[in-house]
Amino acid sequence: MENSLFSSVNSLPDDPILSLTGQFLADPRPCKVNLGVGMYMDENGQTPVLEVVREAKEALAKQSLAHTYIPQTGLPQYDRLVQKLIFGAESDVVQSGRAVTVQTLGGTGAIKLGVDLMHSACGLSTGSASIPTWGNHNDILKLAGYRVQGYRYYNAQSHWLDFEAMCEDLKSLPERALVILHACCHNPTGYDLNHDQWLEVINICRKHKLVPFLDMAYQGFKDGLQEDAHAVRLFANAGLDFLVASSFSKSFNLYGERVGALTVVTHSSDEAQRITSHLKICARANYSNPPAFGARIVEFVLSDPERFAHWEAEVAGMRDRIKRMRQLLVNEMEKIGAKRDFSFVTEQAGMFSFTGLSPEQIARLATDYGIYAVKNGRICVCGLNERNVSYVARAFADVM
Ligand code: LMR
Repeated sequence: MENSLFSSVNSLPDDPILSLTGQFLADPRPCKVNLGVGMYMDENGQTPVLEVVREAKEALAKQSLAHTYIPQTGLPQYDRLVQKLIFGAESDVVQSGRAVTVQTLGGTGAIKLGVDLMHSACGLSTGSASIPTWGNHNDILKLAGYRVQGYRYYNAQSHWLDFEAMCEDLKSLPERALVILHACCHNPTGYDLNHDQWLEVINICRKHKLVPFLDMAYQGFKDGLQEDAHAVRLFANAGLDFLVASSFSKSFNLYGERVGALTVVTHSSDEAQRITSHLKICARANYSNPPAFGARIVEFVLSDPERFAHWEAEVAGMRDRIKRMRQLLVNEMEKIGAKRDFSFVTEQAGMFSFTGLSPEQIARLATDYGIYAVKNGRICVCGLNERNVSYVARAFADVM
């Protein structure tokens, strides 16, 4: 018999984040805790359907819309509303028409589309993301044919942001490198740049002709919807060409509906129109056109000031619960007299805490306690609640 085409194909490891959900579900222990994937969970360990989403679904059901294709660029009103949410309605970027926003398959789809666009339309071939970063950034870059050269971001010794190293590495990137930056709630470390540090990064991007690509998957989870867009707005005011990937997976709990957007900021509405023609081809060649349902929900909410305010309050509720859990974990670790000071957990923002636990310690948490977290030491704080936090703290102290 001839050799099979696939006989020499090796097996690849499972995704380090997504595979944790399967492991957690298969664990029969009632004490198990899921601190893996970045998905909001409430006090009962459930991912709630937001009230505004429930309302939107009821209203949409009454409209009984036909399931026709939507444009390659997504629902036009959704695109306009997303742009306003990111930059603010009064922003020059919005008013001048020099940015184009297209609906994508979640934040991941936005990164993929942006990476493809910059390769095919502008010939970019080097990509850079922080070390560490959300692992998918590098996979998307590599799959699109980019050479990946990361920039340092976090110092494992000091458990802190390493801004000096970051700047040094950014300056050594080749011109026209596509640089992925986390706009807020850095994944996985939870450490963000401050205002002055962002200004310095903007200067480096300008001087070294780098192409910034801001990933904003967690808008609303640090300080608020407007506050968390600060970095994006600084780039907009600086007059650079740049890209933004945004997502409603987290802020609407619409994970499975794949609702995101890619925004490309150019110098003129004429450039924006030409970029749109390329984006249409990229979307068409990848998935033809995006799904309608989730975007209709978001559109329904963002288009009405009252519903918007309701949504903003619900996002604040999720944000506050996560902050409370951070504090509870710190308190519990202190109470136990853990070897290490865990107060850094409240310095970090967003859904994640980078604990500094080693891969071996993370493996022990799963084996001995049924606590699932990412091998690099990242925990999703949303998996904590008042009932399990002392159990988790004791387990942390034990493996440390
Ligand atoms: C995460 O980092 O856990 C989330 O962004 C989910 C994912 O797709 O990895």
